Amino acid sequence: MKVCVVGTGYVGLTTGVSLAFLGHEVTCVDLDQAKIDMLAAGRCPIYEPGMEDLLAEAAPNLTFTTSYADAVPGADVVFVAVQTPSAADGSPDLRYLRSAAESVAQALDNDFTVVVNKSTVPIGSGNWVDAILRDSFKQRDSFKQRDSFKQRDNGPEGTGSNTTEFAVASNPEFLREGNAIADTLFPDRIVIGSDNPRSLEVLNRLYRPIINQTFTPPTFLPRPEDANAVPLVSTDLASAELIKYAANAFLALKISYANEIGQLAAKVGADITEVARGMGLDQRIGSRFLQPGVGWGGSCFGKDTKALIATAAEYNLEMPIVKAARDVNQRQRAIAVERLQDELRILKGRKIGLLGLAFKPNTDDLRDAPALDIANSLIARGARVKLHDPVATERFRIEQPELAPYLSQTIDEVFADCDAVVLVTEWAQYLELDWSKFIGLMRTPIILDGRHVLDAERMRRIGYKYIAVAG
Ligand code: UGA
Repeated sequence: MKVCVVGTGYVGLTTGVSLAFLGHEVTCVDLDQAKIDMLAAGRCPIYEPGMEDLLAEAAPNLTFTTSYADAVPGADVVFVAVQTPSAADGSPDLRYLRSAAESVAQALDNDFTVVVNKSTVPIGSGNWVDAILRDSFKQRDSFKQRDSFKQRDNGPEGTGSNTTEFAVASNPEFLREGNAIADTLFPDRIVIGSDNPRSLEVLNRLYRPIINQTFTPPTFLPRPEDANAVPLVSTDLASAELIKYAANAFLALKISYANEIGQLAAKVGADITEVARGMGLDQRIGSRFLQPGVGWGGSCFGKDTKALIATAAEYNLEMPIVKAARDVNQRQRAIAVERLQDELRILKGRKIGLLGLAFKPNTDDLRDAPALDIANSLIARGARVKLHDPVATERFRIEQPELAPYLSQTIDEVFADCDAVVLVTEWAQYLELDWSKFIGLMRTPIILDGRHVLDAERMRRIGYKYIAVAG
């Protein structure tokens, strides 16, 4: 099938490259010429494991362009995967989505096209995009509008329930950064929302190789042994849109719940890692996303929980559970600093090293990364910080110029003369460190485990004063 993907961020790029890998003919469009040039040369503008390999394997089916006119006509499916950053009031800023929808409408031809919202968009956006497409389409060519944009069945105009030359669908993305390709090719489920049966059929056809798991996996990513046929949830637009928010908010609150219990565990002398393990083995709870620590960051959980609260407010509804998950998450960052203060008594003048800046391992994404709040809070208290990340430093320099002078090139530099080191992001490189090598460099060998991933007993045997965010 012919596919156009608008936007080459994490979601758009992974979608485009994966569908091309599966044999579809994909054109990715992005207004950023530098990004398009890079991709056309086979290089990936984001750090995502395996992406350059998949780009190479999918290359025969992939085109990159900055022109909608080159990408949209002839496409069976147009995915819109542009960014939807938070506006000041917490609601998503839909400027990019509007302008992408308008540009798509300008370039649509008269063959039936499914326009898919792939970005995480507020509930109701499907109908909104549908209206924008109709308006732009009409403006573009009133003659065509009369001749070929006629409703072919009796659904009311503007509800998206008609068979027109295009239909809008929602197909939320559930990939995690750092695991983007595996999550796309071997997903837990595919959700498609549309009020138009024809678009459900088109998307079903598009995803069939994934649904039935009939494709040969990429050479570098074998099919997991437990990968089965993938459940397809075909539903209405609003339900698909809400599924995405509800899933992200649930994961966020699961982590916050583990962190809240972690604070109590610390008071009563329980081990939160054991508590989380014991809870997670109950299959109704599940062990994933119960890892305690400095909490969640990234571009999704913070933004999506905020958007959910903002949407609810439009309907005069409160979301106290989601709000609490956000508060607990923010508190975890503050607690990391408090733990250091408890140990060192005085933070002024202390040298504190932070290992890990990206919001989680295997990405160079720094959006809402706990390390940023922790570093800023320590600096505000007069501490001298040393920052290290195995991958994200280049991006850090550009995005965090005020903090850039605190970057360290080497791990030795972080430990040298240090009063405490905080493990903020659990990169494999840090877990595999020969910790005994560094203890001698420190002034006081305090290690704060921000992710509860180090072996406390081992660290103590080496001679560290091991403390954790909870416990
Ligand atoms: C999240 C969702 O997991 C994806 O399903 C979704 O598609 C994506 O948002 C999105 O909406 O685009 P992502 O933000 O890439 O994916 O990363 P996660 O792996 O979910 O981690 C989020 C944060 O939670 C990280 O800061 C991580 O360190 C933290 N976390 C995760 C914990 O603190 N504890 C855990 O047990 C798990």
